[in-house]
Amino acid sequence: MSTQAHNQNITLTTLQKIKKANQKFACLTAYDACFANVASSAGVEVLLVGDSLGMVLQGHDSTLPVTMLDMVYHVECVKRGNKGALIMADLPFMSYASETQTLDNAASLIRAGAQIVKLEGGAWIAATTKLLAERGIPVCAHMGLTPQSVNRIGGFHVQGRDTKQAQVILEEALLLQDSGANILLLECIPRTLARNITDSLEIPVIGIGAGPDTTAQIMVLHDVLGVSPITPRFVKNFLAGNNNGIPGAIESYVQAVKSATFPAAEHCFD
Ligand code: KIV
Repeated sequence: MSTQAHNQNITLTTLQKIKKANQKFACLTAYDACFANVASSAGVEVLLVGDSLGMVLQGHDSTLPVTMLDMVYHVECVKRGNKGALIMADLPFMSYASETQTLDNAASLIRAGAQIVKLEGGAWIAATTKLLAERGIPVCAHMGLTPQSVNRIGGFHVQGRDTKQAQVILEEALLLQDSGANILLLECIPRTLARNITDSLEIPVIGIGAGPDTTAQIMVLHDVLGVSPITPRFVKNFLAGNNNGIPGAIESYVQAVKSATFPAAEHCFD
């Protein structure tokens, strides 16, 4: 497989059309210009400058130490290498605690090159989502396992396993869509719940550890390349056994997402 430019300036409209057509798109984290170039050229539609950089680049045991300065720096790097993918950036821990702070920090990410910001939470981020949406800043709401709340959750555990919690997640997802979220991201929830939410929402749903039925999948780049120190159940190393190096591994990931062969049953939670 050769690396070639697949993406022609992906927009939210492109992603919405993919959802409507019952097709799939692929997302991957990127933190620098070189990998942004390789991933976008391999056909990844959404590059996430994730606060996972705190773990995979900086070596912390959570995303909590990541700052706005870190995020802006890495968004600028990714923007320089990107070939047409949509750039999403995380608002890091405690960067959206007040209205003024939210607007200033989201504006900094957009000025640095992000086209959509991602924030973690349920009903409590509805007002923040509305605030950003009304001011023209697209929002991805991240639900399920929300790593910025790791101390409250008590670890990186699957969410939504009991019926009551699953119902709350579904209701809050609908609320966030109504509040103006353009994309929903679901992390580590049972496959059936992710399918139910995806079917109930009009906006595209990205999953990680949420089964194969969401509109899109996302993985952390270092997991796709098999260099992360820990390997959760939902991770697959696409570099192992691939003869075309890193570009080939990322192309395989994109193809597997689009053909719904990844994630397989062994990567899902019940
Ligand atoms: O920060 C990140 O990389 C993320 C993904 C795990 C979805 O939020």
